[in-house]
Amino acid sequence: MNYHGNHIVILDCGSQVTQLIARRLREVGVYSSILPAGTSAGHIKDIDPNAIIISGGPQSVTQTNAPVVDQQVFWLWKPILGICYGLQLICHSLGWSVKPSPNREYGHAKVELFGQSDLLAGIDSGSSVWMSHGDSVDSIPSGFDCIAKTSTTPFTAVEHRERKIRWVQFHPEVAHTPIGMKLFENFALHIAWCSWDRDMDHYHHDIVYSLRNKIWKSTVVCGLSGGVDSSVAAKLVHEAIGNNLHCIFVDTGLLRYKEAEDVEKLFRPLYGKNLHCINARREFLDALQWVSDPETKRKIIGKVFIDVFEREAKKIDAIYLVQWTIYPDVIESSGDGTHSEVIKSHHNVGWLPEQLGLDIVEPLRMLFKDEVRKLWKTLGIADHFLSRHPFPGPGLGIRIIWAISDEKIAILQQADHIFIQELHNQWLYDTVWQSFAVLLPVQTVGVMGDARSYDFVLALRSVDASDGMTASYSELPHSFLQHVSNRITNEVNGISRVVYDITSKPPATIEWE
Ligand code: XMP
Repeated sequence: MNYHGNHIVILDCGSQVTQLIARRLREVGVYSSILPAGTSAGHIKDIDPNAIIISGGPQSVTQTNAPVVDQQVFWLWKPILGICYGLQLICHSLGWSVKPSPNREYGHAKVELFGQSDLLAGIDSGSSVWMSHGDSVDSIPSGFDCIAKTSTTPFTAVEHRERKIRWVQFHPEVAHTPIGMKLFENFALHIAWCSWDRDMDHYHHDIVYSLRNKIWKSTVVCGLSGGVDSSVAAKLVHEAIGNNLHCIFVDTGLLRYKEAEDVEKLFRPLYGKNLHCINARREFLDALQWVSDPETKRKIIGKVFIDVFEREAKKIDAIYLVQWTIYPDVIESSGDGTHSEVIKSHHNVGWLPEQLGLDIVEPLRMLFKDEVRKLWKTLGIADHFLSRHPFPGPGLGIRIIWAISDEKIAILQQADHIFIQELHNQWLYDTVWQSFAVLLPVQTVGVMGDARSYDFVLALRSVDASDGMTASYSELPHSFLQHVSNRITNEVNGISRVVYDITSKPPATIEWE
């Protein structure tokens, strides 16, 4: 797609929150790319962005190995915004002094504003901002105007309109700076003159058009998982090239209750005979025999998935593979490498490697998760799949603690189904982030009628979260839990006891394995 006129380059100096700058820009409808701090000015000139933002970073500009930007960047005459370390880097690069502060300033501060600045237009003096810095500048050269200060930082925001350079000492990208969105809106729309582009219908039309240009008349293969990303990616490609798209759905046997049937019901009418549902249950289960270590399970499931997919894809003789990379995947793997630790090992099932030798198409590359969901609504796919809780790639493989067997999978699928069904019945499903059942490798004594039983313990887990990085357990009503427990112990053979997990994340993770 052509982002000319709507693109900001972010030079990453290693801040933990650089991605949030991209997120905020996206919220004001602007596309950005995160590049390493040291990217050459020549490369940036070729990209021809509307503006450049230099991010914060954990180091001091006075350290020898601290990130630097190409000096020529300042002579591209693009609007530049330096944030925290970015500002110190601007000053240091242009030869002004930057001094370590006696104390690191960390936390809320109130800004006092001066004059008419376009960067801070519409923001009230006295607004709260979030500071986190060690170094600061104690003087500014002529031509630069101070437009904000705090009680401890005299040059909190500075601008030089002719040189198009602006900086802020605080972090406008974090949620603790409520005026941050307004600042990014001012910078992106009124200083960098980016055009507002957040309309999903528009995006939908654009992506189908550019896909058609790229892959028209080519055979394309897409892995369908039943999840939102793969479903939306496939539908967009299908709109672009119709029956040249083949979708492969691999039934690992580790899916939710009747998931394979549900996926087929939803997608068969859309893709007809080009939907290839592969029952690979035996292959997965055989490979997992006696495996109890969670990471080994993940690796095995990931590998078998690739083997099965590769085998089926070869039968189709495709040229392109649809990868459902979304924007956070792109920005997590860009930058200067300091963020590499955030890429989860979770991308292990359904993520297909280059070894397939196919060219990649990534229709969702520019979208955040919530935007993919919005896009789903414009595509005319039935939306009961859309509101489903997240489901991990390795599926029930990591919800059956210890070794996996056919019998345990069947028990867990039924119990989990009852839990989810009851959450829907009581209108609780949409109030929580994720709910599921976990089968424990523990058998306990129970009484069934007149006889004693010796069956498994099932744990129910339900958490409230906004992104899954942290979570607290959901305070589901006792009467509800009791009802679910009764149903499960009555209806599912093999479970004699049900417990509810009341641990938050941290210290626990959401999944048990
Ligand atoms: P944890 O257990 O790490 O889970 O607190 C956070 C979120 O990630 C999901 N999860 C996974 N997703 N492959 C996935 O695709 C995995 O191996 C995996 N492990 C956890 C989990 O369901 C929750 O939404």
